[in-house]
Amino acid sequence: MIFNNIYMIEQDFVCFDDFESNGIVKWNSPSNIALVKYWGKKENQIPQNPSISFTLSKCYTSTSVEFKPKKNKDSDVVFEFENEINHPFGQKIKLFISEIEKYFKFLNNHDIHIKSKNNFPHSSGIASSASSMSSLSSCLVDFELLNSKSKEDSYYTKKKSFIARLGSGSASRSIEGPITLWGSSNSYLGSSDLYAINISDDVNKVFHDYQNSILIIDPGVKKISSSIGHKLMNENPFSNTRFDLARNNISRLKEIFKSGHLDDFINLTESEALMIHSLMLSSNPYFILMKPNTLEVIQRVLEFRRDTKLPISFTLDAGSNVHLLYPNSVKEPIQKFIEADLLKFCKSKTHIHDSLGIGSEKLI
Ligand code: PMV
Repeated sequence: MIFNNIYMIEQDFVCFDDFESNGIVKWNSPSNIALVKYWGKKENQIPQNPSISFTLSKCYTSTSVEFKPKKNKDSDVVFEFENEINHPFGQKIKLFISEIEKYFKFLNNHDIHIKSKNNFPHSSGIASSASSMSSLSSCLVDFELLNSKSKEDSYYTKKKSFIARLGSGSASRSIEGPITLWGSSNSYLGSSDLYAINISDDVNKVFHDYQNSILIIDPGVKKISSSIGHKLMNENPFSNTRFDLARNNISRLKEIFKSGHLDDFINLTESEALMIHSLMLSSNPYFILMKPNTLEVIQRVLEFRRDTKLPISFTLDAGSNVHLLYPNSVKEPIQKFIEADLLKFCKSKTHIHDSLGIGSEKLI
């Protein structure tokens, strides 16, 4: 089969090859931070609106998967997280494997042993679903590539993103970098609800080495899972307006990427962050994920920007941590400011100075 069509459909991702083989594959995959946010989905992990993110480099998950021809009638899945067999994450992973078996016929012939670990502290409050699901999907698709009839590279890249998406929507955007788009948009040819695409070309050089400092305000487990948050959008009175605004923000961001206008970038990223939190506040039941120190940091960032005119902006995930975005050229004064004025609002001064990266990388 030839996969030269830029738009692929679900059926294209079914691997019918039924081989039996021994082997081990290992991949690192990073976290990402959305600029235009995904918040609200339809059946089968189809997003209500397209989203764009920066792929990060320093916070990543390493996953290895060992495949052996199965010993018993049913294949066995063992999951080890940070050297702990039967970690609670294991249930989610086993359910995920059973849901994606239809895309990898060979999985029925193998026992698999998955080992996964994060290089960032487990209790940092950094969402690990994007990095963990994208590293696992990279391993599964890589094993297919090593053993089945060969297809074009772009097929495997799309399939990694397609499979990662089924585990966690935002994970679809961690396969490539530094800038990716997931979700169908009139602004980008080749965009799809099924997988993310790399949109790093035609981007002003100011964005090539953008920085992302993550300030850990509260490392606690989130009070609400993002899947519940997405579901609540079905009933949210502002949801349709939100989906329209997000679609429009994709085309605005495309222009900003081209022009390099940082005032517009700041305006768009901050408004996106506050908009998804306003949707959480207006859901029923509502939920408040920002903490007093989240607002303290935001306030200090706005004052610093007013006084220095330096192009720093904030964005937020579904949590209380603050992500600060700024060009590499102003890294020194901004990191000094963070250290002098903002770390006091972080839990035990925890922070990570991250920057843009290229996505999943093969180790073995
Ligand atoms: O991938 P999920 O289901 O954990 O949702 C992620 C949602 C946000 O992080 C809030 C936004 C985004 O686009 O990453």
